[in-house]
Amino acid sequence: MPKVMSLNSCCITNYKKHTSTLNLTGYSCKFVPSMIDFRSDTFTKPSPLMLDAMFTARVGDDVFGEDPTVNELEALLANEFGMEAGLFCPSGTMTNQIAIKCHTQPGDEVICEKMSHVYVYEGGGIAFNSLCSVKLVEGNLGRMTADQVLEAINPNDIHKPHSSLVSLENTANRGGGSCYEYNELVNIKKVCKENNLSLHLDGARLYNALVAKQQTPKQYGEVFDSISICLSKGLGTPVGSVLVGKKDFIAKARRIRKVFGGGMRQAGYLAAAGIFALDHNVERLQQDHLHAQMICDALKSKDFAGTFLPVETNIIIFEVKGRFTPATLTKKLEDNNIRVMAISPTQVRMVVHLDILPEQVAKTIETIQGL
Ligand SMILES: Cc1ncc(COP(=O)(O)O)c(C=O)c1O
Repeated sequence: MPKVMSLNSCCITNYKKHTSTLNLTGYSCKFVPSMIDFRSDTFTKPSPLMLDAMFTARVGDDVFGEDPTVNELEALLANEFGMEAGLFCPSGTMTNQIAIKCHTQPGDEVICEKMSHVYVYEGGGIAFNSLCSVKLVEGNLGRMTADQVLEAINPNDIHKPHSSLVSLENTANRGGGSCYEYNELVNIKKVCKENNLSLHLDGARLYNALVAKQQTPKQYGEVFDSISICLSKGLGTPVGSVLVGKKDFIAKARRIRKVFGGGMRQAGYLAAAGIFALDHNVERLQQDHLHAQMICDALKSKDFAGTFLPVETNIIIFEVKGRFTPATLTKKLEDNNIRVMAISPTQVRMVVHLDILPEQVAKTIETIQGL
């Protein structure tokens, strides 16, 4: 017992040491890191207040369903989206892949946009986990229309795979953080319903879309059969995504999570960060969107910036031309303590997030103006 006590007090000392170097509010931070990292909104680190919420969480064994904080987070998000149940998982890749597995049978076909995360960036998981083929649709900025979905559904013909699932992404990462109009989602749902297909949403950045389009979570619960919501992107937690859906669906998903090795024990420490983020980090996403717009405006005046994808939320994707290439511009900015990401031979991506402070936005704009 004394050993445990001394270990805990050592952790507390380290924790206090860490938090004392940072301002609690985040925004008027005295400790402004010199490197400004726009590579992704996954680079955020938990604030002292978030760490405090994590550190003091009530926990239990979640594989036994006994972690009160995980249960609270799952119920909170299910309720917010008007869904029956939720499932906390370690990553957005896992919530997406579990959903796809639950909605399909081996040999089925999944319909998604050609730049979808579920297809491009999840390691071939649709084939690996679910033994399904994929029908890719060339959309507009990562978004498909209801007509395109209808066209992509295979006829009832033994030569063709059975189309059983449509997977959308909102905001669409490779579409530059583009958002769906709600009407289009309703139309897509209608097509799915009429043709007996399930509809899943990769909502890694759904809260960015909700804030930008002034939509509500309940509207999404009315349209989708399952939604994956990431807590570790714009919302700023270190780990975790929640899958929401009907009770039976989530019961099945819970089995699949176990099979995928995603059952976590005292996961309440992580879920507490999610609850904190939902309380504190949603409305402020507007600020990220405004900052992205300001940086975009500064870039647009430069001769090396070509075409931009429309900046609707926190992501800026633009073509680099003339005296820079994406690689040389990335290097030049890195020399000025600004990290961006070359995402193709012609394009650079910048993602604004919780850990990009207003003074860092000002410094970035000044640096861009000086290039
Ligand atoms: C649109 C989208 N979906 C899903 C994911 C996967 O999330 P994770 O990294 O938690 O697996 C990401 C990650 O960046 C993403 O951008």
